[in-house]
Amino acid sequence: MKIGIIGTGYVGLPTGVGLAELGNDVICVDLNTQKINDLNNGKLTLYEQGLQEYFENNVKQKRLHFTTSVQEGVQNADIVILAVGTPPDPETKQADLQYIFAAAQETAPYLTHYTVIAVKSTVPVGTGDQIEALIKKTNPKADFDVVSLPEFLREGFALHDFFNPDRIVVGTQSSKAIETIKQLYQPFEGKTKFLFVNRRSSETIKYASNAFLAIKIHYINEMADFCEKTGADISEVAQGLGADTRIGNKFLKAGPGFGGSCFPKDTLAMSYMAKQAGVEMRLINETISGNLQRQQNIAQKILNMVTDIPNPKIAVLGLSFKDGTDDCRESPAIRIIEEMLKFAVQISAYDPKGIENAKQILGNKIKFNDSIEQVLENADIVAILTEWADFKTLDFEKAALNMRNKRIFDARNLLDAQNAEKHGFVYQGIGK
Ligand code: NAD
Ligand code: UGA
Repeated sequence: MKIGIIGTGYVGLPTGVGLAELGNDVICVDLNTQKINDLNNGKLTLYEQGLQEYFENNVKQKRLHFTTSVQEGVQNADIVILAVGTPPDPETKQADLQYIFAAAQETAPYLTHYTVIAVKSTVPVGTGDQIEALIKKTNPKADFDVVSLPEFLREGFALHDFFNPDRIVVGTQSSKAIETIKQLYQPFEGKTKFLFVNRRSSETIKYASNAFLAIKIHYINEMADFCEKTGADISEVAQGLGADTRIGNKFLKAGPGFGGSCFPKDTLAMSYMAKQAGVEMRLINETISGNLQRQQNIAQKILNMVTDIPNPKIAVLGLSFKDGTDDCRESPAIRIIEEMLKFAVQISAYDPKGIENAKQILGNKIKFNDSIEQVLENADIVAILTEWADFKTLDFEKAALNMRNKRIFDARNLLDAQNAEKHGFVYQGIGK
């Protein structure tokens, strides 16, 4: 099939690569000229494990193209996927729909034959109706259906999730659109669950899923606080809790709170939508405020470990919002750093992939290092804030020689506490 994707970011790019790998002819569009130039020069614009090889192969096979021209992406397409950002409005925190409306409006003039407009961006309930009206108004002759096709991939596992989705949710009541989407996802038939629902349900499923996962994380984090006061161990508690198949063992890792470009913004957007609808979602509201408070609390816990040292040097391991990605949007690590910077401290940080993006946010407020060894040099404490595998194998002997004081705050429970203590470190984890 011929597919145009508008928006070539963390969703658009892996989706484009995956659809090309399935044999489709894909054109990815972005208004960011630098991004498109880089992609046309064979350079990936984001880090996502495993993407490089698929990207190179599909470009070579001429199934994957990149352009800044919406016309090129749309004019021959059977399906146009909208995958632009829907960030929170800085004031109201509702989803800012300016990019998706602009993308829909730019698409409309080039719809010359029946086309499915598939909305993969996460959008509030009713947005599909607004997009439909906008396209009709811009191009009254256009023959099209707007389908909600929410995306559930995780960064760091984008291709894995593309090829192995838990479910494919399709929000439309047009049988013609359903046939087109079925053709698109034909390779997944018999392997995954398809849900054909109305467009508003589909839009709601996406927010309901992200909000639920955020609540689950907030729950385990509160349970971790309880464990810290009572001598229980959150890892053991999570194991016991997750063994109940009704609860499930995923998303029970206590840590510095959830971050990323989606959970924080989607919980805020859900809360706003609910309020507009006259429903107060207390659980979601509590999750939002509790999660923000958590990052302040973690910063305080790190500072509490170095109160005896004037102007302590804090070595931070991890800047991205989780491992496997260079994405630093709403990263708990960055929030914790910003919180600690309110006090007299020096901070140096290392991350295997996230340094460039973190620099865009933190500028020169902290020092960035190129290796674990460098960041630990003369540090008074090391704070592990992202769960990169590289940090799990921290060489305690080398670290002990390198650091001025031997203290560890492990916000991801990555290290073996006993081993750390054996090497003379004062160790503090989460929920223990
Ligand atoms: P992103 O910021 O990485 O990418 C969006 C891209 O769209 C940018 O490159 C931007 O330049 C481009 N763009 C904006 N307006 C455009 C226009 N009019 N024409 C062409 N290009 C345009 O965003 P993302 O993380 O890929 O998220 C996209 C959407 O998908 C959001 O609604 C998000 O909530 C949702 N989502 C994201 C993830 C994720 O893991 N990041 C997962 C599921 C759903
Ligand atoms: C999340 C969802 O998992 C995807 O299904 C969804 O498509 C996506 O949001 C989206 O809508 O953008 P993602 O943000 O990439 O994916 O990452 P997650 O793995 O869900 O992690 C989110 C945050 O929660 C991270 O900060 C992570 O460290 C934290 N987390 C996750 C925990 O603290 N504990 C856990 O047990 C799991």
